[in-house]
Amino acid sequence: MSCRKLITIDGPSGSGKGTIAQCLAEKLGWKLLDSGALYRLVGLDVRNRGLDFEDEASVGALAASLDARFDKGHVFLHNQDVTNDIRSESAGNDASRVAALPRVREALLQWQRDCATSDGLVADGRDMGTVVFPDAPLKIFLTASPEERANRRYKQLKEKGMSANLPRLIEEIRERDERDSNRKTAPLRPAEDAILIDSSALSIDEVTGKILEAADALFNDE
Ligand code: C5P
Repeated sequence: MSCRKLITIDGPSGSGKGTIAQCLAEKLGWKLLDSGALYRLVGLDVRNRGLDFEDEASVGALAASLDARFDKGHVFLHNQDVTNDIRSESAGNDASRVAALPRVREALLQWQRDCATSDGLVADGRDMGTVVFPDAPLKIFLTASPEERANRRYKQLKEKGMSANLPRLIEEIRERDERDSNRKTAPLRPAEDAILIDSSALSIDEVTGKILEAADALFNDE
């Protein structure tokens, strides 16, 4: 009997999770959950409304009524296309701040769980394998050194014509790791049954290939 079609991919920012998750979803023909985008959307909404990032009750209420939509690679907040706005470094930092609030995480939990249907799901985030889908049959924890991750981010930003400063990116990545790993609720850590992959010296195809191999053994045994 084949098992639930669900793969979780967790890891720090810049580990290549997003690209790899997208690649896997395409190859398998499954849906993709980019959970980081949800936290980025809440962060953007908080900033746009001028709310206090430390006001957990208000930020949590905002997350609970998040008016977001994902459509063909585009992300909408209150029907406005914010695909690029949520990708800036400052939006990432705002996301990390709201993500530290338990009420925000609670508010987004069911939203995320509802994405797992029989069509198959690749879920990308920090706590997919530990909190959101603890029973997922295949869990991956992807890492890479902070320098390598900052380098990748630098290239991505430059390609998009956005400004970037490498030493500052390294520092921001370290700070974000620190905050994500040390927060009380759902800290960034591998699930006990996760497969650890260090992508520092691996190409996207190599990492995707490794995961597909594991997926093949699990999901194609009808
Ligand atoms: O993955 P991405 O860089 O888009 O995530 C932005 C921030 O959202 C992360 O730094 C992290 O603080 C938070 N996040 C989280 N849990 C997730 C996904 C993202 O706490 N499942």
